[in-house]
Amino acid sequence: MGKGYFITGTDTGVGKTLVAGGLAALYKNKGLNIGVMKPVATGCKRVNNTLVSDDAAFLKLSAEVEDEYDLINPISLEQPLAPTVAARLSHTKIDTDKINTAYDTLCERHEYIIVEGIGGLLVPIDEYYFVVDMAEEMELPVIVVCRPTLGTINHTLLTVSYARQHGLDVKGIIINESAENCDTIVKDTNTDEIKRLTGLPVLGTIPFHKQLDIKDYNKELLVKIFSDNIDKDIII
Ligand SMILES: Nc1ncnc2c1ncn2[C@@H]1O[C@H](COP(=O)(O)OP(=O)(O)OP(=O)(O)O)[C@@H](O)[C@H]1O
Ligand SMILES: [Mg+2]
Repeated sequence: MGKGYFITGTDTGVGKTLVAGGLAALYKNKGLNIGVMKPVATGCKRVNNTLVSDDAAFLKLSAEVEDEYDLINPISLEQPLAPTVAARLSHTKIDTDKINTAYDTLCERHEYIIVEGIGGLLVPIDEYYFVVDMAEEMELPVIVVCRPTLGTINHTLLTVSYARQHGLDVKGIIINESAENCDTIVKDTNTDEIKRLTGLPVLGTIPFHKQLDIKDYNKELLVKIFSDNIDKDIII
């Protein structure tokens, strides 16, 4: 088992990048050698003829690493669609060997690594190769990021159950309030029900904060919010 975490989520937009970056910033702040990776990104922007992912850029800033962009994000696609679909529209095929090589290089350079998946566990990367398969190959313990809102118990249990079917080591759940005005009663009761039904710890609940924005990196705020709201034991 590798050292670090594979960050997945119950859906797209739940806060995987924010959580992966927050954890990376905490590792860095402790003086640990942390690497980051967003193996597959879609919806990338063209900058000087290179496709760049906002997620990968945020992770790179959070971990303060010098690694080449291509290693952090080996597969970048332009259309904001599932990887297989975005690849098809770009008349290309995702090279999974490129992901594995970049991952191995980063693991050699860093003692710990935090990898952000894409979407949820059943997002297709290649014809019959899904995010869950990539997580399995990377041999990292998994953290599931979920919403605090109504519907999250179902999404979280499905994700945890599927991860376990694939033999992934699920370390726990992080509940992230990615949108404002979450119903407090639902938030509080969901936490207990998720713990009871998964038997997993909730490793933190990240509150909504207007200035927490993956497109506007704010190190001080990120470190403060994560130090205040995350179980310290998950930073090895
Ligand atoms: N706790 C929070 N407070 C304020 N804004 C947040 C919070 N969590 C996430 N956001 C914002 O919500 C949006 C979605 O979060 P994020 O990009 O981390 O989700 P994701 O699961 O990584 O999405 P994707 O599937 O696109 O990779 C981002 O704009 C992010 O800045
Ligand atoms: Mg993301």
